[in-house]
Amino acid sequence: MKTYLFPLLILLFFPPQLHAGSVTGSCLSYSLQGRTVTFHLNDSSAVQLQLCSPSVVRIWFSPDGRLERSNPSFAVINEELEEVGTVGVDEQNACYEIFTSKLRIRVNKAPFNLQIFDKYQKLLFSDYADRGHVSDGPRKLEYKTLRRDEHFFGLGEKTGKLDRRGESYKMWNSDKPCYSIVEDPLYKSIPFFMSSYRYGIFLDNTYKTEFKFGTESRDYYSFEAPGGEMLYYFIFGKDYKEIMKQYVELTGKPIMPPRWALGFAQCRGLLTNEKLSYEIAEGYRKRGIPCDIIYQDIGWTQYLQDFAWRKGNYENPRKMLADLKAMGFKVIVSQDPVISQANKEQWAEADRLGYFVKDSTTNKSYDMPWPWGGNCGVVDFTLPAVADWWGAYQQKPIDDGISGFWTDMGEPAWSNEEQTERLVMRHHLGMHDEIHNVYGLTWDKVVKEQFEKRNPDRRVFQMTRAAFAGLQRYTFGWTGDSGNGDDVSQGWGQMANQIPVLLSAGLGIIPFTTCDISGYCGDIEDYPAMAELYTRWVQMGAFNPLSRIHHEGDVAVEPWLFGEEAEKNVKAAIELKYRLLPYIYTYAREAHDTGLPLMRPMFLEYPSDMETFATDAQFMFGRELLVAPVVKKGARNKNVYLPEGTWIDYNDKRTEYSGEQWATVDAPLNVIPMFVRKGSIVPQMPVMNYTDEKAVYPLTFEVFPAATGSEASFSLYEDAGTDLGYLRGEFMRTPVACLTSEKGYTLKIGARAGEKYTLPGQRNLMFRIYAGQMPKGAIIDGKKIKKTSAEKLNGNQDTEFATTAWCPDKKQGTCLLRLPDDGKEHIIEFIY
Ligand code: NOJ
Repeated sequence: MKTYLFPLLILLFFPPQLHAGSVTGSCLSYSLQGRTVTFHLNDSSAVQLQLCSPSVVRIWFSPDGRLERSNPSFAVINEELEEVGTVGVDEQNACYEIFTSKLRIRVNKAPFNLQIFDKYQKLLFSDYADRGHVSDGPRKLEYKTLRRDEHFFGLGEKTGKLDRRGESYKMWNSDKPCYSIVEDPLYKSIPFFMSSYRYGIFLDNTYKTEFKFGTESRDYYSFEAPGGEMLYYFIFGKDYKEIMKQYVELTGKPIMPPRWALGFAQCRGLLTNEKLSYEIAEGYRKRGIPCDIIYQDIGWTQYLQDFAWRKGNYENPRKMLADLKAMGFKVIVSQDPVISQANKEQWAEADRLGYFVKDSTTNKSYDMPWPWGGNCGVVDFTLPAVADWWGAYQQKPIDDGISGFWTDMGEPAWSNEEQTERLVMRHHLGMHDEIHNVYGLTWDKVVKEQFEKRNPDRRVFQMTRAAFAGLQRYTFGWTGDSGNGDDVSQGWGQMANQIPVLLSAGLGIIPFTTCDISGYCGDIEDYPAMAELYTRWVQMGAFNPLSRIHHEGDVAVEPWLFGEEAEKNVKAAIELKYRLLPYIYTYAREAHDTGLPLMRPMFLEYPSDMETFATDAQFMFGRELLVAPVVKKGARNKNVYLPEGTWIDYNDKRTEYSGEQWATVDAPLNVIPMFVRKGSIVPQMPVMNYTDEKAVYPLTFEVFPAATGSEASFSLYEDAGTDLGYLRGEFMRTPVACLTSEKGYTLKIGARAGEKYTLPGQRNLMFRIYAGQMPKGAIIDGKKIKKTSAEKLNGNQDTEFATTAWCPDKKQGTCLLRLPDDGKEHIIEFIY
């Protein structure tokens, strides 16, 4: 008893400034059912713990003790992640304890207080005093102890610094044109965050929830919901990656993009006609600037949302699509989730069928003002019957030859916080306060599932603006209307802000995403004045997994409009992305399997280096590359934080830097500051006009050997790129490793794994070893390899498939090897 007295006295004299409301009382008893333990309190409330796995616990606080959900979770698809064995509750005088192989969960009886420790008794997560679970009418608040050195990351696509400590955030999908660099809320709601104390919290509540990371006190942080169930998942992991992987097990894997989705894309608000589409396509091909996708914005369609090509804008859309296809372009069209009243027939049809969201005050179809096309009916995607109806409509342009959709305005637009009048909307699954944040998600589910149903064995391309946790199962993302609308060429802050926004999107499992390269907002009147910002934006955008150049209205933002120098630099950045495609695609598969994004905050790779918590202007691109785009006007150098290890300047492939320090590197306009970790292998392909211009081509592995005694390795992933064969095991992996020894380098090409996918032709594997010391001879599988000249070795890479050749290229400091790819294991020794 004594031990409780002191903290209680402190609380008595210095009550924290917490929200009034009823705190939880004392625990009277518990009940145990399988993996679920429910604690019953003297104020009739209940707190239920469900062990989803030894490291994931679902926590459910119910003020009235009822444990019923109004709707099944929109986000979680699997709760029983692992066997947990027989769950036992160990009752002691003052507490109950539950042990798993990873956690010790302690429930103090009076006052009720939940604490979770790791197996070494380190406290990870704790209710704040007796305020762990507070209710105030339908509103529920959770207060948790905040440690002096605790940091928070996540909540998906949000602005501001990555480290969320000291900030507060809301979840309410909002359309915010030209949003500021601290704007909140934005389009997407992903109530999942991670703490530096090695746990994550996913609050599975679709209402307008709020998170306050120490804005009220240095002693606690909180999250709250104005309605619905206070139900959240505690996820323990040894690092952020492990936490994210478990969140993915709960909420589903990201869809695997078609390979072409990872190329460049061009868009514009008024890119809504045949003529301009041809012009842009020809512009790219004429200049040899790689590009895979041309978007059509919403004006492509006659009416919202009849999926018919706008008369007058398109003479022969099928022919246009076929012509663009022949030039190597895919076309993606926009869709909005509404039917305009001007579209009389379709509106009447949907109204008659009861497919619109209702106005609960009149029981009629809700009359929604829309930014274009007049007032609309809002399609109710929570109603199961809508799916096939919508699917049949959206199939029309697919049959014409488009390759996918971007789902825009699914907040639904113009229902931001201020528009409280929208709260009268009633959806099939609930009132708008509950459904608002999942409206876009339910739409994306329909779009994706209908696409797959009607287009078997094709990968879906779908990119969305408004979403909720779990969106990765249906769609990719983009970060909406950024840019400085008042002065477009001064959009530097907006561009810099996009890096943490995209990185945080990745932490919310949106691995495939892009910003609007060039920024969405602002009329460009002076193209030369915009050239520098445009160049830097494309350089950063080249590392967005879905690189899309887009701008508002009829503001043209094609790469050749900003002057010769900008065109050259932009082309080089785009080409770099295409060269890196085999590397990028390998990481795309990893993202599909694990949820880990391609663009990674530094701390994802270096979780114990606290210096990385404030490195918002740089990121890891996979595990091997560190990218630090220039985001300041006039800057010709960049200050970069290099974590542990040795880093090689990727621009000269030579200069080495020791890690755990900040370094300032030169960054003239043609340079994207980039580093490769010493001891890395980076696969590349030749630059092409579009990603699948050639079905088969030589693959080059750039090898940056590790220090003596260590190995560099990479396992290349390949598949057919557009079908669902990857789910049937139709893919291959080529493992490559390079060991550095006292005698030289031993290159090991592992036997190809994956029999079901065959290469569409013969090819060479090319190796470029950035050798510290130049080898004098080379042996493959015990036999000497013919030495040749660099010209011959490279010149024959597309034609010579019979012999292996090598060459020390002293001028370049590289050791080259050409090896016909026979899928078999080979060991090549390069001897000093
Ligand atoms: C809003 C989107 O964010 C923007 O990208 C698009 O161009 C406009 N809607 C018009 O469809």
